[in-house]
Amino acid sequence: MRVSWDSLHEAIGACDLCPLCREIHHKVPGQGNPDARLMLIGEGPGCEEDRSGLAFVGPAGQLLTKMLQSIGLSREEVYICNIVKCRPPRNRVPEPEEAAACLPYLRMQVALVRPRIILLLGATAGRYTLGENFRVTRDRGRFVQKSGIWFMPTYHPSALLRDETGQKKREAWQDLKQVRDKLTELG
Ligand code: URA
Repeated sequence: MRVSWDSLHEAIGACDLCPLCREIHHKVPGQGNPDARLMLIGEGPGCEEDRSGLAFVGPAGQLLTKMLQSIGLSREEVYICNIVKCRPPRNRVPEPEEAAACLPYLRMQVALVRPRIILLLGATAGRYTLGENFRVTRDRGRFVQKSGIWFMPTYHPSALLRDETGQKKREAWQDLKQVRDKLTELG
């Protein structure tokens, strides 16, 4: 049976598979173009996302919008979501059990969107899609193909906001250019 967006959003709305849903204001399923060629995966909602129910609308999200614009993409063209759909308290990293409980929703999102490329934002997104040995500083910037999808790991925009030397920003720009070129190559 092929899952529908309606049934997916209903399931996320009703989900109580982990304790994260107990302290939130809104679930944050993700949003954007359901036919996007590029999908972005972050870690989990922050304060403003929890308040609005929308992924990446706070400071990291504003930077993400600019990063996309730098390669000629608008937010409306891509699909954006997170590993976990509920805000972890004090923005801590999701526990493995929390990520595991939420991953089936992400898999459904990937199956529905069927993107050509997935941009992985940060260590948590990398770990739960490419494997637990993933290290963002070591593994970013190289495409990995898995189940017919190209994955590009890069830094999380929050890390770029904290980047004082500008080194990470320069590396993230290289990663984004690779995504832009791959999208062109794939046609
Ligand atoms: N950080 C994330 O990983 N996701 C969001 O939606 C916002 C901030």
